[in-house]
Amino acid sequence: MATEITSETLGKFSSTDDVIAYYSDAATALNGNSTIIVTGSNTGIGKQTAVALAKLGGIIILGCRNIEKGQNARNDILNKLNVNGSMNNVHFIQLDLGSLSSISSFVKEFNHKSQKENWPPLTHLICNAGLFPMTNTISFNNNITGMENTFAISHLGHYYLTKLLLPNLRRSNANGGNNRNNTTRVIMVSSGSHYGPLLTKDMTSKKEVLEKIVYPSSTLTSVSKKKNMGGMGDDDNTTNNNKYSGTKCYGSSKLCNAIFAKALYEREKDNNIHCASLHPGSLIATDIARDNFFANLAFKYIISWFTKTIDQGCSTTLACCLMPVEQLKGQYFDDCQVKNPGKMVYNKKAGDVLWEISEEILTNVGFGSESNLNRLGSLKMSSNL
Ligand SMILES: NC(=O)c1ccc[n+]([C@@H]2O[C@H](COP(=O)([O-])OP(=O)(O)OC[C@H]3O[C@@H](n4cnc5c(N)ncnc54)[C@H](OP(=O)(O)O)[C@@H]3O)[C@@H](O)[C@H]2O)c1
Repeated sequence: MATEITSETLGKFSSTDDVIAYYSDAATALNGNSTIIVTGSNTGIGKQTAVALAKLGGIIILGCRNIEKGQNARNDILNKLNVNGSMNNVHFIQLDLGSLSSISSFVKEFNHKSQKENWPPLTHLICNAGLFPMTNTISFNNNITGMENTFAISHLGHYYLTKLLLPNLRRSNANGGNNRNNTTRVIMVSSGSHYGPLLTKDMTSKKEVLEKIVYPSSTLTSVSKKKNMGGMGDDDNTTNNNKYSGTKCYGSSKLCNAIFAKALYEREKDNNIHCASLHPGSLIATDIARDNFFANLAFKYIISWFTKTIDQGCSTTLACCLMPVEQLKGQYFDDCQVKNPGKMVYNKKAGDVLWEISEEILTNVGFGSESNLNRLGSLKMSSNL
């Protein structure tokens, strides 16, 4: 099997089957040896990623916030794959990444089921869930006062989930680490939007990140919606203190995903946990524009003619799941290959600042390190977070 990816082999329009064929040894090795969590897998790229991985025979966990949608997705995936009725390797566990309590409950239930049903080690965590704010009015998280919701879900939720699953991921190496194809990885589905426009370009300044991304003031509302086409057409690359932009908010949340992948790798590489971030493709016809009627129509029925299919949009995720771990190194991928990211992504200080902020928030709301251990030991649902 080739170890280097070249454009002749995998590229922009590779399907998930192409990726599986290219990494056939690694794909075969997943069967019976791997448990894989995919967040936001009831629809879009996450669901199709789960379909592609479920075919390979590992245990697939769909982490979705809506119980009905999650269960329907599970049934749908099994019905699609289950030609002879023998597959039962897809499971749904409720996960709302906007709620720290829900994340704790997810991990607790995952640990319980994993032991009870003797699942193989957790080898892949795919942080795919995301949302695109379709207006230029700030949406605040329901649980953490003053925190912007896109940051809360796309970054902080995934940060906390990864943190709670680190013991599982580290343990997996003890069981499966000898098989390099099976070595543990955390994959962050970022976006080309991380290049900009952004709420701030300076991710090395804690103050900037806190004030512009994490806790934007409620007074920073509404740029002309007309000008910005419901938050999609904003090409102003500067930050105006009196204005807020859904597009910039999305870009900054995706930048956090890419910075986190690199920072996590640097912290966990000695534990043999490997990471990557990636761009699935642009303007793929998923439900991402669901909050804007016209944008949603355009995505699904016009733009989709010119962009990757949803399946092609999963190929880079799949490549990151299957390629030899040595090639990941916390890097940013696009079209199944390494690509140069925005300059903040590999900036150590930016990684440290994001880490410090995330830890401080968790501690301030009672979900810091000590409380994590207690919570996973005997979870009390008293907190609303
Ligand atoms: N489509 C594109 O062109 C494109 C381009 C670049 C990057 N991406 C990235 O690709 C990833 C997948 O997006 P997609 O295009 O497949 O969008 P999508 O169809 O809207 O799927 C997003 C998924 O995230 C889930 N989600 C949202 N908030 C959540 C929460 N609080 N807790 C748990 N899950 C939550 C959604 O669940 P519900 O159904 O319950 O809302 C849904 O399952 C995202 O990270 C996105 O930023 C997409």
